[in-house]
Amino acid sequence: MPYEVKAVVAKSAKQAVSVETILVPDPGPGEVLVDVQACGVCHTDLHYREGAINNEFPFLLGHEAAGIISAVGYGVTTVNVGDFVVLNWRAVCGNCRSCLRGRPQFCFSTHNASQKMTFNGVPLTAALGIGAFAEKTLVAAGQATKVNPLVEPEVAGLIGCGVMAGLGAVLNTASVSRGDSVAVWGCGGVGDAAIEGARLAGAHTIIAIDIDDRKLDWSRNFGATHTVNALGKTNDEVVEQVRALSNGDGVNVAIEAVGLSDTYKQAFYSRDLAGTVVLVGVPGPEAELSLPLIDIFGRGGQLKSSWYGDCLPSRDFPMLIELYMQGRLNLGAFVSETISIDEVEVAFGKMERGEVLRSVVVM
Ligand SMILES: NC(=O)c1ccc[n+]([C@@H]2O[C@H](COP(=O)([O-])OP(=O)(O)OC[C@H]3O[C@@H](n4cnc5c(N)ncnc54)[C@H](O)[C@@H]3O)[C@@H](O)[C@H]2O)c1
Ligand SMILES: [Zn+2]
Ligand SMILES: [Zn+2]
Repeated sequence: MPYEVKAVVAKSAKQAVSVETILVPDPGPGEVLVDVQACGVCHTDLHYREGAINNEFPFLLGHEAAGIISAVGYGVTTVNVGDFVVLNWRAVCGNCRSCLRGRPQFCFSTHNASQKMTFNGVPLTAALGIGAFAEKTLVAAGQATKVNPLVEPEVAGLIGCGVMAGLGAVLNTASVSRGDSVAVWGCGGVGDAAIEGARLAGAHTIIAIDIDDRKLDWSRNFGATHTVNALGKTNDEVVEQVRALSNGDGVNVAIEAVGLSDTYKQAFYSRDLAGTVVLVGVPGPEAELSLPLIDIFGRGGQLKSSWYGDCLPSRDFPMLIELYMQGRLNLGAFVSETISIDEVEVAFGKMERGEVLRSVVVM
């Protein structure tokens, strides 16, 4: 018997989202049903609503979630009814050419539930294959990662996307280590998680760049040692300031967590020779980048992109939750407010105006 539940649906591009009743099927083979307890509002949800990801409306939004397994389908052995889980959007397959090379964190064939949840008989596209602004959601068993049930759901859920993306960009993708200098463009949930990751890894200088002083103030709570307000500045002026804060040479690691060509260029030129640039921000479909090829060659180092912090959920989620439980990871500070499922559209506005790091829907 399918379940009728309340959920946040985006029906068409650039239109306000609404709370609707959707149908969630019983789990089939390899699928699990999750009673969602909390789900954070991420900028990627807004990208979906704007039609910037793809045009497969209607979308069921929400993907930074934690909850309890309430039913499992045939053949599921990794989780049981009653388990507390954080949902992930990269359930690795174990069989693709990347998994077979021992690199499951880059799995080329991640999977979601086979069955679709529906709204008025129309299949919903679940954001990042999750769709968790809903009382119940259906995912592939590999998308549900068991973690310590003593953690608050509104905190745990954030590990499922933005916080993991930021922490992982620094810890996994860039392998920041003790004594490194790091600069981070964009101090939203993702950028601040990168700053938190740099602090955790023992980075020496951590420079936060944003266009909003409020965001820069918050970034200091996560470990930024210096801040740069880029509002109204040219790319060259921002680069000059970042380099001045890092001995005039530039930083070892530059993390772009906005998704714009200009901030990417700033990151590229703020980096010391042989340094690393990591693109974490999701660019719009029209964004293009033009750089002198000689500068790419001449400056050496690495230009990387980081999806989901190159994480392996089964390895990283329980570990990060334990660090939080031990008081060594400042996850609680990402939760600016808890809201009801009816307030997601209002939360998008707050996010656009820079008033919150994360609004988290609590069911
Ligand atoms: N790579 C991944 O796996 C992954 C995962 C989650 C989110 N993301 C992406 O990361 C980006 C950040 O997400 P978020 O949730 O933190 O968003 P957010 O809106 O909370 O934060 C973005 C920040 O960038 C700042 N900003 C905007 N323009 C700027 C500029 N020109 N210079 C400096 N700062 C500027 C804003 O003031 C804001 O503080 C988004 O593009 C999102 O889609 C990527
Ligand atoms: Zn694979
Ligand atoms: Zn997200």
